[in-house]
Amino acid sequence: MTVPIITIDGPSGAGKGTAARLIALELGFHLLDSGAIYRILGLAATDAQIELDDVDSLVSLSNSLDLSFPYDAEGTEIVLNGAAVGDQLRTQAVADAASQVAVHPPVRDALMGLQRRQARDPGLVGDGRDLGTIVFPDANLKIFLDASVEVRAERRYLELIQSGQTVERSAILRDLEIRDVRDRTRKVAPLVPANDAYVIDSSDKTAAQVLADVRDLCRAKGLA
Ligand code: DC
Repeated sequence: MTVPIITIDGPSGAGKGTAARLIALELGFHLLDSGAIYRILGLAATDAQIELDDVDSLVSLSNSLDLSFPYDAEGTEIVLNGAAVGDQLRTQAVADAASQVAVHPPVRDALMGLQRRQARDPGLVGDGRDLGTIVFPDANLKIFLDASVEVRAERRYLELIQSGQTVERSAILRDLEIRDVRDRTRKVAPLVPANDAYVIDSSDKTAAQVLADVRDLCRAKGLA
């Protein structure tokens, strides 16, 4: 029997992570935060002074990552090689490094097995950019969660301020726009909705409203 899989793809700040965690909690499924994988790689490469276009070194680094994503109603923990990573993944510098390492096809290939291994009984909810198109093309339910860049920048701004970082609104908006262009136009696995994805625009919705939409889609697919 195959493991049920739900994918939630979309740009940064659309609310994917929260929607994925809350629906995983309701269904008792495992969680995959694929953005965290690229962030870990970006951070580890920066720490090891590996250039973000040194593909061979990035691939060997990718092969050494062992990650899991324990979560609860409050949030998701990223556990790397047995130790919790903490908040250091949530900076703009790490997000930018993640987006840069993510453009290299051999790096994406090297991270494929790690992502697919997360699909275990009783099911998986994953969020990212290419989960419904490339990583899990046969997923039972594919969602593409979008929102205007202004709304996403405001959400990211509040998130970073709440985590104690000093940031400027205009800088966040600019970074998001740059990252959006890079993620949407890269040659391999660009950010596009799968043909069979349900598109939800979260610009005017609360997290609870998005969760309700996702829950309805799960029910319609016999997943809840
Ligand atoms: O979702 P996030 O903001 O944590 O993702 C950080 C970067 O990682 C994003 O700019 C692009 C990359 N990424 C990707 O290329 N493919 C994924 N499935 C998830 C993230």
